[in-house]
Amino acid sequence: MSPARTPDHPIAPLFLSRWSPRAYDASDLPVADLLTILEAGRWAPSAYNVQPWRFLYALRGDTNWQSFLSLLDPFNQRWAGEASALIFLLSDTVMPGDETRPMTHSKYHSFDAGAAWMQIALQATSFGYAAHAMAGLDFENASKVLDLPKRFNLEVGITIGRRAEAANLADDLKAREVPSGRRPLEQMAFAGPFPERFNVIAAE
Ligand SMILES: Cc1cc2nc3c(=O)[nH]c(=O)nc-3n(C[C@H](O)[C@H](O)[C@H](O)COP(=O)(O)O)c2cc1C
Repeated sequence: MSPARTPDHPIAPLFLSRWSPRAYDASDLPVADLLTILEAGRWAPSAYNVQPWRFLYALRGDTNWQSFLSLLDPFNQRWAGEASALIFLLSDTVMPGDETRPMTHSKYHSFDAGAAWMQIALQATSFGYAAHAMAGLDFENASKVLDLPKRFNLEVGITIGRRAEAANLADDLKAREVPSGRRPLEQMAFAGPFPERFNVIAAE
């Protein structure tokens, strides 16, 4: 693992071994493996347990593969075609009501969908695959191509696949094909109220 991935405090190795590659080996992904990865997303926590996430997927070469790929922006199309599966993560913006509360607009749909993304990424990693989230999407065309009902929000696309050597990537992407580091924990975790001296970082 890269020196950039040395934690400030000891954590489970899975968190460090997950990273977002762009070089994939273009292999086929058994649907059972994909379903296991999505199953992990299913078990994410959500506000009132409404489970607002939905997963639309295409497997490499299936009937939806090309139309799904066409919804990535030009940058992501440069590399994502070698992945084995492409998932679009949606969230339901409507919080269904029950006997204790009325139906309302959800304030947590994106937050909850983010939890599902992370469970997907960690399950994929622990299974020997890699996952890479992408917000660089053609949002305008997506609702038509994916037949999205109005109340659903497209959050991100996610590639899943087996990591490959960076050699086949274009030079600019090759240089970026390394696990990234993080700012020190002391710049993001504070005992008590928000410290004045970090206001500048917060505004960036
Ligand atoms: C919401 C979200 C959107 C992202 N969008 C893109 C994207 O469009 N294209 C891309 O190559 N990477 C994208 N990334 C990957 C991030 O750049 C990456 O997660 C970040 O640099 C940290 O690196 P790591 O995931 O390897 O730890 C996205 C990640 C997230 C969580």
